[in-house]
Amino acid sequence: MRCLPIGVIHTPHTDPDATPIQPVFARGAPGRVEVDPAYAAGLRDIEGFSHLYLVYHFHRAAPPRLVVTPYLDDHPRGVFATRAPVRPNPLGLSLVRLVRREGNVLHVSDVDMLDGSPLLDIKPYIARFDRRDDVRCGWQDAIDDATADARGSRWDRDSR
Ligand SMILES: C[S@@+](CC[C@H](N)C(=O)[O-])C[C@H]1O[C@@H](n2cnc3c(N)ncnc32)[C@H](O)[C@@H]1O
Repeated sequence: MRCLPIGVIHTPHTDPDATPIQPVFARGAPGRVEVDPAYAAGLRDIEGFSHLYLVYHFHRAAPPRLVVTPYLDDHPRGVFATRAPVRPNPLGLSLVRLVRREGNVLHVSDVDMLDGSPLLDIKPYIARFDRRDDVRCGWQDAIDDATADARGSRWDRDSR
């Protein structure tokens, strides 16, 4: 299988250590998704959706590791029980807010990926399909919201 980028994601984030670790900690961080004109017809009807999943290449990731210490935790975890970028297939998945579309460019917010991340796919968030209430979140359940916020944000909107 071979995946080819369908565009590029531009964000204010250039330093991996100063980039929010998830969109929920990146509220208001603006991004621009430039879809190659060859794929622009595929954006038809996308304006109707408030949130989009972006699938992209962690193009600046370190080599893969199967056990990692997550950003929010001090204990080693299996990489597939985390969202760490150092995965055998370095794919990122971020749920961002769609602000507006201008032709083949999507203006989004709440971005947690580095500038220049190659875009591989876009899928709309569909509450009917994606929302879950009866969830367990493994080791994450032991982390309180204040700690998660303090360790996950890493982005000072006012200093940009
Ligand atoms: C924990 S990952 C989560 C990304 C995505 N929301 C996910 O769940 O797949 C986010 C972190 O990955 C790093 N990162 C983001 N984009 C990257 C890229 N293109 N290459 C390498 N590292 C990246 C940054 O350090 C950022 O804080």
